Amino acid sequence: MRESSPTQDICRRLALYVDARRLDIVATVLGSNVPRRLGTKAASVFVHAFLDRLSQELEIGDRDAIDVWIDAQVVESDACAFAALLRATCTAISEKYLSECGDPGAVVSYFSSLSSRSMRRLGVEKIVEESHAFDPSKLSDRNEIVSALLAVLDERDPATCEHSRAVGMWSGRIAKTLGLSVEEQNFAILAGTLHDVGKLTTPSEILCNPGPLVGDDWQTMRAHARIGAKILERIPALVDVAPIVRSHHERIDGAGYPDRLEGDDIPFIARVVSVADSFHAMISKRPYRKSLPVLLALDELRAGVGTQWDRDVIGAVLQIVQPAGSVRRVGVLRSVSSA
Ligand SMILES: [Fe+2]
Repeated sequence: MRESSPTQDICRRLALYVDARRLDIVATVLGSNVPRRLGTKAASVFVHAFLDRLSQELEIGDRDAIDVWIDAQVVESDACAFAALLRATCTAISEKYLSECGDPGAVVSYFSSLSSRSMRRLGVEKIVEESHAFDPSKLSDRNEIVSALLAVLDERDPATCEHSRAVGMWSGRIAKTLGLSVEEQNFAILAGTLHDVGKLTTPSEILCNPGPLVGDDWQTMRAHARIGAKILERIPALVDVAPIVRSHHERIDGAGYPDRLEGDDIPFIARVVSVADSFHAMISKRPYRKSLPVLLALDELRAGVGTQWDRDVIGAVLQIVQPAGSVRRVGVLRSVSSA
């Protein structure tokens, strides 16, 4: 599946941004744990080469440039390590660009799709799970099972699978910004990644419906939270994720589903996943609507503080996604702190 495409104007600005911030981006990736398997020098060469190809794709719209390059560069034994580097680089650019330029959600979607596409190209499905080292005794089981669940979800509906990966990423970022432990951050990534696993049983005509849902279809779609939890309850290695998946559509005011839980009765990580889910959905394009610009999505989140979403969690998103020097940002943050 082709990734969603930012406008030509955004592509050109992104290409310039990648060139201008190249050293910064490389330093961010090399400063993470990701390059360990390849070594810093090889990782540095690889990331620089990737940025060259990325600039080329962005500047001249050569959509095959990265695919051809990946095929030529990567040997199978290192595929997972290279895929991890590609993903880390996409994340670094996406995060830096958003925080510094505050541009549309198309940028996040573009890099999320590019990262997923690269992983598929490399035949790698385990990379997401590799960073989930929260319980060594369960790690191997979790890796295998999560990988299998995502593969099935991808077959049923690639868009839901990509969204799931993105929600995992955002959940982890929010957890980190909130100062949660590494173990909790990894748990948030896992829960975010699996939040919609119940959609595996949603009928295709509803799951892949290009328009807004109406009537009974809503009830059928809503069952995915309860069904997702039931699926995970039957998998010993993932049983602790079940309550989070069940509660990811609950609302602070008790108007959510399936249990109409209120406030602190909703597991905290479910509150994190709920915000990550909604935020990514807002800034993503849907067949029946355009993506919402990031600043408008932040306004939506702010408006739902205390009714739909947790105040601290929204505060963390605003802290992550804030255009440098934006007057409006200050207004947003003030509103949240007084809501
Ligand atoms: Fe959901």
